[in-house]
Amino acid sequence: MTLVSVRDLTIAFGGALALRALSFDLRRGELLGVVGESGSGKTLAALSLMGMAPEAARVSGAISFDGERVDTLPETGWQSLQGRRIAMIFQEPMSALNPLQRIGTQITEAMIWHEGISRAEADARALALLGEVGMPEPQARLRMYPHQLSGGQRQRALIAMALACNPDLVLADEPTTALDATRTAQALDLLRGLARARGMALILISHDLAAIERVAERMLVLYGGDLMEEGPVAEILSRPAHPYTAGLIRARPRPRPPGVPRRPLPTIPGSVPGLADLPRGCRFHGRCPKGRPVCAEGRPPLVDIAPGRRAACLFPEPV
Ligand SMILES: Nc1ncnc2c1ncn2[C@@H]1O[C@H](COP(=O)(O)OP(=O)(O)O)[C@@H](O)[C@H]1O
Ligand code: SF4
Ligand SMILES: [Mg+2]
Repeated sequence: MTLVSVRDLTIAFGGALALRALSFDLRRGELLGVVGESGSGKTLAALSLMGMAPEAARVSGAISFDGERVDTLPETGWQSLQGRRIAMIFQEPMSALNPLQRIGTQITEAMIWHEGISRAEADARALALLGEVGMPEPQARLRMYPHQLSGGQRQRALIAMALACNPDLVLADEPTTALDATRTAQALDLLRGLARARGMALILISHDLAAIERVAERMLVLYGGDLMEEGPVAEILSRPAHPYTAGLIRARPRPRPPGVPRRPLPTIPGSVPGLADLPRGCRFHGRCPKGRPVCAEGRPPLVDIAPGRRAACLFPEPV
């Protein structure tokens, strides 16, 4: 059953389009990855799903959540969804936590606000949640302030906050940027396990294909505000259809056997152009090794290339 349906979501800053007619669906309980280099529109897409697009943005298109249009909701309508049915784990754990409030207070705030439960009941639920997210000595941590926690523990506290009201959807935007490799893997496995155990849908946003592979079943590849490719993670990683996806995969760091010298990674040539400098046709034209003049003429349509797979390229790889 469809939980989220996004149609032609377009976000403009002045005359520059940061997202161009993004459409996708998310099933209840589905684990979706969104990948793309910095500036591809991932965070803007996530913020729009929370009714939190920046003031300066001109937003159009339709977003439905659990069968109801939400993009047209007034502020108060969004407030009843935020934290209760849709929760977000933000990019910067330190800025997402209030430095002046105890961890326990921050976790119980949403429960008391949305559900009107007593402080004692909320405290008991917060304690159980901290246990569920693997916080060591949860009882003591509830009374601590963010600066008294390690980076990994702060991340667990944020995950507990997101889960406080048992949402249907969690949006995790680069949730492990502040963590080392081991803690990243632990946090990703924790998110995946919790989403599965609770039947909760998860949108994991990351520039890192390894994170997407670890967590998600299906993925969207964004570049320059366009959806370039969509499909099951395992299929896309083994046979990408879009040259941009293929470039991301080639640029992945790979584990080396001991004694094998490091070789320079092939990178995608050039860098992501600024919003105002994006090509009008295919956004990847100019960096694409397969690009031809016709690619600059218009936006390549997103077409079905195999069951469950779509790509927006005039010359896709066979899959
Ligand atoms: N408040 C804003 N004002 C102007 N441009 C913005 C604003 N927020 C984001 N952008 C631009 O929109 C594009 C997409 O941003 P974002 O969604 O943050 O990308 P990502 O999360 O993929 O790195 C970028 O070019 C960014 O500079
Ligand atoms: S449409 Fe052309 S420029 Fe764009 S990804 Fe395909 S081949 Fe490359
Ligand atoms: Mg971002």
